[in-house]
Amino acid sequence: MNQKPDPAAPVITIDGPSASGKGTISALVARALGWQMLDSGALYRLVAYAALKHSIPLNDVAGLERLARKLNARFETRLNGRETTIYLDDENVTTAIRSEKCGNAASTVAAIPQVRTALLDRQRAFQQLPGLVADGRDMGTVVFPGAALKIFLTASAQERAKRRYKQLMEKGANVNLADLFNEIAERDLRDSQRATAPLKPANDAVELDTTHMTIPAVVEYILKLYRERQ
Ligand code: CDP
Repeated sequence: MNQKPDPAAPVITIDGPSASGKGTISALVARALGWQMLDSGALYRLVAYAALKHSIPLNDVAGLERLARKLNARFETRLNGRETTIYLDDENVTTAIRSEKCGNAASTVAAIPQVRTALLDRQRAFQQLPGLVADGRDMGTVVFPGAALKIFLTASAQERAKRRYKQLMEKGANVNLADLFNEIAERDLRDSQRATAPLKPANDAVELDTTHMTIPAVVEYILKLYRERQ
């Protein structure tokens, strides 16, 4: 995407740790408003996927930066935002990039500042009318600091491991709850302790603990907050 961002387009950022429900919530909020959505984690997953595919070591900073700059990715959304197919160099990687292996590799490449910078303009280009819901870790702090509404979603690590387990089981993956819990805890630590764009709420973010909330309740709450700010 080579478009310039449109500053007139409002942005809602939804940040939070792994498996906090950001993706699901962001998609539903975007659909309710008729806005587009940016799944920024998918970009890091795409870089990781490309690195694994081309055997580029996850500590080869220059190689990973080059990959991130040249990333030939396409997001195709259908059914009013209900389904997105992700292509990398014309290969359908929608399912492949969701593996835990790819998620962990994504968290490693995402700690490299040069990779983050290489992906900045690509993310900002998603700011188009009528509006954008941006899902990630640093949407409110770094990528869209002027967002109209910033949400920071959390849930206990145990609850998040359960949610991820359910999600992966539904996709037919063979996973183990204890392993998922450990991976989530490890990823939380790496994402929140890295020097560049660590996972943390923006100063002006609304923090929402969703451990005991249903998905529709979270969506409604976010829409209400947005309406109140207009
Ligand atoms: O689905 P899950 O929340 O586990 O991961 P994701 O949102 O697809 O992101 C995968 C990885 O990319 C995360 O563990 C982060 O390290 C990284 N990421 C990031 O650093 N900044 C973002 N804006 C989005 C994701």
